[in-house]
Amino acid sequence: MSNAAPIGVFDSGVGGLSVLHEIRARLPDESLLYVADSGHVPYGEKSPEFIRERSQRITEFLLGQGAKALVLACNTATAAAVADLRERYPDLPIVGMEPAVKPAAAATRSGVVGVLATTGTLKSAKFAALLDRFASDVRVVTQPCPGLVEQIEAGELDTPRTRELLQGWVAPLLAEGCDTLILGCTHYPFIKPLLRELVPEQVRLVDTGPAVARQLQNLLDQRELRAESGSAVATRLWSSGDVQQLQRVLPVLWSEMVEVLALST
Ligand code: DGL
Repeated sequence: MSNAAPIGVFDSGVGGLSVLHEIRARLPDESLLYVADSGHVPYGEKSPEFIRERSQRITEFLLGQGAKALVLACNTATAAAVADLRERYPDLPIVGMEPAVKPAAAATRSGVVGVLATTGTLKSAKFAALLDRFASDVRVVTQPCPGLVEQIEAGELDTPRTRELLQGWVAPLLAEGCDTLILGCTHYPFIKPLLRELVPEQVRLVDTGPAVARQLQNLLDQRELRAESGSAVATRLWSSGDVQQLQRVLPVLWSEMVEVLALST
């Protein structure tokens, strides 16, 4: 595998672009491929079997494009599919992600942590195991946010509807005494400025994007797969959904102007 080969990243839609930002910032020499499975968003309301099948197809596609490593920039897909992918591709460096329960449990002062995530993530065995492992000393209040991913897919990062939905989910968490909120879905960092307006200043917002980029760097270092300085080429981006729609919202979600390609798999 050549060091100049790209990193393949995917999500159910545009959410993983928040992780792609972190990867770009930490690993500026790496070339990046991104698949938004927007034709099948939201994953949060789909069965684990369906998500495993999609994840496998997208992985095959990214490997076909020459990916040297894979990032599941999606908490829901990680919960459903990362074990299966690791079994199928034992030699491929794979980074998954999960809600930042460990750092949140360490950071809380009130002892109450809120988790905003998809229904699929919150219902998963992986999330239950995460709580068992890291949250025994704190109280965790979970809040699914059905409909929020669709707002973000539509580029509605700060519209009255998004604000109203978010307010409805955050108010009960604050009432429970949460002083730390986990953004447990990769779409949510895009509404962080709005969320910041809706919660008191002392409430911490925690997400996993930076840790994912660090973990990717570690894996590439271990396998001596880092790209040489200055070797990055333009990011390539595919959508399985409405290509024009992604092209329209892209300027607010991603820093490079790239042409979105159609993914037919
Ligand atoms: N962005 C995804 C996550 O991190 C899933 C959103 C969805 O499709 O429901 O969980």
